[in-house]
Amino acid sequence: MTRTGASPKPDPLRARGFIVGATLRHGAVYKARVMEVTRDGKRYIAKDLGAMHPLFRTLFGRRVLRHEAGLLEHLTESGVVPRLVERIGHDTIVLELVEGGPLRKKNKLRPRTRIDSVLRSLAHAVETLHRHGVSHLDLRNRRNILVTADDRVVLVDFESGRRFDRGVFGRLLRSLLVEVDRQSVLEWRHRLAPAGLTPDDLDARRRYRSWKKFWFVKKLGKRVRRVFGIGRKPRLQAPST
Ligand SMILES: Nc1ncnc2c1ncn2[C@@H]1O[C@H](COP(=O)(O)OP(=O)(O)O)[C@@H](O)[C@H]1O
Ligand SMILES: [Mg+2]
Repeated sequence: MTRTGASPKPDPLRARGFIVGATLRHGAVYKARVMEVTRDGKRYIAKDLGAMHPLFRTLFGRRVLRHEAGLLEHLTESGVVPRLVERIGHDTIVLELVEGGPLRKKNKLRPRTRIDSVLRSLAHAVETLHRHGVSHLDLRNRRNILVTADDRVVLVDFESGRRFDRGVFGRLLRSLLVEVDRQSVLEWRHRLAPAGLTPDDLDARRRYRSWKKFWFVKKLGKRVRRVFGIGRKPRLQAPST
């Protein structure tokens, strides 16, 4: 069956008065679809499970979408995530559209002051998340870090996000969950503005990387990302020193 054949039309959106526009992320049998939609001339983002295999949709698709919507609702006041506009049934959510693009690669972020303010905004966004008891866990993927024209960072894609302010599991893993996000910020600082890293930053990064070298951590991470379709890690290059 072709992908088009496997993807039911996003009719629930149309029924709510949305006009479906460009597809930003094609869905897959195990993955949600992301589209731009408009209503009354205003643009939004819709995420739906229309392309997902019914089995995956029932087994975990709806749970993951509900989980993401719940986190976005919890973070509404934070100012660092898009607002959840509407839930449509079990299979679709509509979000505020963030006018911006993914975090750019090194050579595209000029001048230096711009890089610094984007990185400061990224660190602020992550600290704000953590103050609200949430870790993102997929910030190595630059497509989950949207940067507006005025260099403000907005974080998207909370499928793998976790709350660490409640539940035994979350509380137990709190320091690990926080550290994963912090190390992602450090990695982006290392990539985009390595001169700004202190010896302590470099030391923390080195320790974390060697800890991650344990094969089982790597293998488990890869397996989880593959099974749940979590974004690919960007290739991180060591700065030429
Ligand atoms: N609220 C939003 N505003 C603008 N663009 C968005 C928004 N949410 C998602 N996107 C875009 O759609 C892409 C895919 O969405 P995302 O939630 O990351 O889904 P996936 O799980 O497929 O990675 C993002 O990388 C981003 O470019
Ligand atoms: Mg993503």
